[in-house]
Amino acid sequence: MDIDVPYLAAPSWDPRMKDRLRWLQDNEPVYWSEADELWVITRFADISYVSKHQELFTSAEGVRPALGSKLGLIDEAEPRHGHLRAMINRGFTPRMVKKLEETFLEITTEAIDAVAKKGECDFVDAIAVPLPLLLIAEMMGIHKKDRQRFHNWSDAMIAGDGNFDNPDIMAAAGNAFVEYSSYLTDILETRRREPQDDLVSILVGADEEGLLKKFENRDVMGEAAGMDHGELANHELIMLLTLLMVAGNETTRNGISGGMQLLIEHPDQRQRLIEDPALIPGAVEEMLRVVSPVHSFGRTVTQDTEIHGQKIREGEKVLIVYPAGNRDPREFEDPDTFRIDRNPSHLAFGIGSHFCLGANLARMEMRVAFRELLARIPDMEFSAGGPVLKPSSLVRSCTEMKVRFTPEA
Ligand code: HEM
Repeated sequence: MDIDVPYLAAPSWDPRMKDRLRWLQDNEPVYWSEADELWVITRFADISYVSKHQELFTSAEGVRPALGSKLGLIDEAEPRHGHLRAMINRGFTPRMVKKLEETFLEITTEAIDAVAKKGECDFVDAIAVPLPLLLIAEMMGIHKKDRQRFHNWSDAMIAGDGNFDNPDIMAAAGNAFVEYSSYLTDILETRRREPQDDLVSILVGADEEGLLKKFENRDVMGEAAGMDHGELANHELIMLLTLLMVAGNETTRNGISGGMQLLIEHPDQRQRLIEDPALIPGAVEEMLRVVSPVHSFGRTVTQDTEIHGQKIREGEKVLIVYPAGNRDPREFEDPDTFRIDRNPSHLAFGIGSHFCLGANLARMEMRVAFRELLARIPDMEFSAGGPVLKPSSLVRSCTEMKVRFTPEA
């Protein structure tokens, strides 16, 4: 087994990665990757342990080991992390998610309407991409006419990960961030003047209460001397909104495309869902386990410690690999089998204090999407050899999945 590959490099994440991770899990659960200069952690129990012990394995030195800058929230230390999280959570209460569900149903219906009569489409382009993207755009107050720009910015920024040695991609990511920041600044100013019942107004309102000012200012990207409070707050809010955009977009997109792939590959399981849609919430958890849309995040060791007798030194990095944990035979019986009634407790959203803030939103999106898709297009099948995947150490990334089905009458 060729385990000596750079685990942070995108090209390593081809179909062979699955066997490699299983081998590591069985033979070297705490594996020193010379190429990445970090420890690769692959067992379910160890990923949970690392995630739940921020005092030993901190996120505060960054969660993407090769990325120089910080992202905000996801790589904050306490107590600032807790304050920020509580503030943002106001936009993710059950009431807000319920309200967003209505919008999401409209978005889903429109997307299905656009293809249902055709009998074929690229599932990624037509369904998996627009659904989460348009919901986040709506949450951020992006005007309908600018949705395509929003899409391009989001893709350009995410493409930066794993491509730090590619100056063109990095320049495109930087430009996208600049354009998107200036666009959002206008939205923030508008919401300051005329608040609405949405996430941006909640964040702007929290800022007016002085919550952002209360936190000590840090080395957030682009911080410039001479900004007054309003400008600084805008800057921090934009960082938070950017994190939400990146975190909520490609992840959910791949939850949806990966989930549909599994249903197409397992017609018996799909048939059970069509006959009994009450099974959909459980099926979504199993999709999240098997698909694991987020591949890995990093931590930095704060003091000498050990796992399974392997010594790990202060200052060293570890990489927790979610798809490995989610298919750990020590945790899941017959882990490579997709069973919609398994109802697994999985790691797809992480665990511990940085547990995915958008988990309820993502679950709602996947439940609504599959309910509507199965009701209207129950017989989807691959029309061109199945999904096309783009390797990435950060997220599962499906770029194309051509399908055909009986056209809607
Ligand atoms: C299927 C979809 C999703 C998956 C698989 C996913 C996965 C994850 C994972 C694994 C983490 C843990 C990071 C860590 O421990 O270092 C995380 C954190 C986070 N996610 Fe998600 N996510 C999804 C959807 C979303 C959505 C829709 C949003 C928001 C719109 C979102 C926002 C966040 C944020 C803000 C954090 C950081 C939380 C913190 O540090 O306190 N995610 N996500």
